[in-house]
Amino acid sequence: MTAPMPEFPAGFRWGVSTSAYQIEGATGAHGRGPSIWDTFAHSPGRIADGSTGDVACDHHHRHGEDVALMAGLGVSAYRFSIAWPRVQPGGTGPANPAGLDFYDRLVDDLLAAGIDPVASLYHWDLPQPLEDAGGWLARDTAARFAEYADLTAARLGDRVRLWITLNEPFIQMSLGYGMGVHAPGRMLLFDAFPVAHHQLLGHGLAVAALRARTTSPVAIANNYSPVRVLGDTDADRAAGAAYEALHNRLCTDPLLGRGYPDGTVNDPALVRAGDLDVIAAPIDVLGVNYYNPTGVRAAEEGSPLPFELVPLDRYPRTAFDWPVAPDGLRELLGWLRDTYGDALPPIEITESGCAYDDVPDADGRVPDPERIAYLDGHLRAVRAALDDGVDVRGYFVWSLLDNWEWAEGFTKRFGLVHVDYATQARTPKSSYTWLRDVIAAARPGSAR
Ligand code: BGC
Repeated sequence: MTAPMPEFPAGFRWGVSTSAYQIEGATGAHGRGPSIWDTFAHSPGRIADGSTGDVACDHHHRHGEDVALMAGLGVSAYRFSIAWPRVQPGGTGPANPAGLDFYDRLVDDLLAAGIDPVASLYHWDLPQPLEDAGGWLARDTAARFAEYADLTAARLGDRVRLWITLNEPFIQMSLGYGMGVHAPGRMLLFDAFPVAHHQLLGHGLAVAALRARTTSPVAIANNYSPVRVLGDTDADRAAGAAYEALHNRLCTDPLLGRGYPDGTVNDPALVRAGDLDVIAAPIDVLGVNYYNPTGVRAAEEGSPLPFELVPLDRYPRTAFDWPVAPDGLRELLGWLRDTYGDALPPIEITESGCAYDDVPDADGRVPDPERIAYLDGHLRAVRAALDDGVDVRGYFVWSLLDNWEWAEGFTKRFGLVHVDYATQARTPKSSYTWLRDVIAAARPGSAR
């Protein structure tokens, strides 16, 4: 038994999050084109279990059941992503109406269930033809992204309640183009900086495109990881600052009008006159995706990186071996407030969650006490941050369903709902029931 959850402000947004390629499947339906993740997943040796997102959770066909699961949970919002290759199969040109039809129906079903649609425009599934033309290393991709934002908002702008331009541009840059462990699998290390700049430029251009089509608020979702410096030498502290500049500030400083942190993006041929103004277009909400803090110390001589990442021992760990550190969320929210002050817009936690090896028991139930403890701790951390004076407006659990976890394939389960990938049977875990009761206490009459 945990202590009763403290109260949250009236109107606090309770949500769940997913992304297109991780759940939809139906990758060939209605003229959808290939994305970099189709190509990557189908390349031998890239995904831990050799799986792909071809079917994933088959959400494209089962979204009715999934919306019913959300309604049963009582959430007030659902953050999903729109697959760019469904809207523009080749990454350019007119919209593919059949691709947008799916999202049109989804949005209407959500509204009918009393759930706010929160749409991310880009959760890493770049149309492959754009990658073939240089991907996010090419400046033109920023303009293509704004065009896609315009086409999508022309169809859905009257009903989506919150728009999120990009999901985690730092992770797309570092894992996709820097280290090669995510699509498109390029290993450019610091030569990947143009990927950050062109995504942020695309974000700024997309904000303008969205404003022309909708009055709904606009946000971006960044991944943040508070930095714990291990070691007390100047070199350790410098390593911590270098990591913080990359992970936490590279994609936030320029958004909030400060330009790029020293030692990061600084090539005048890349950052052209006026770009920083486009990027700093006001946003209404900052989406914060938080999973864990990062331990950092000085790198060994000869390392290609200016820091070394070190495991943080004093925390329990998830099946991903990530430390469970709710205190890191409170710390992060305070850091954002202290660092950006009045420039910081209201925050929504757009992702927070954990992977465990959840297995149905003999009665077909799926007990996941670790996830309950995780969510309990992180919600209390948000409550503490509210008490600290940080303006947090919502919390979205990653994720509604177990799903296709990128390079880990189906081996990591993040869902409140268990998915049997052989049958596509959905079974709410004990965390689903727990969260339903927490939400019901905060939003009387919410669950349907
Ligand atoms: C991503 C999700 C992913 C989650 C867990 C986040 O960085 O936005 O797509 O599933 O982390 O790894």
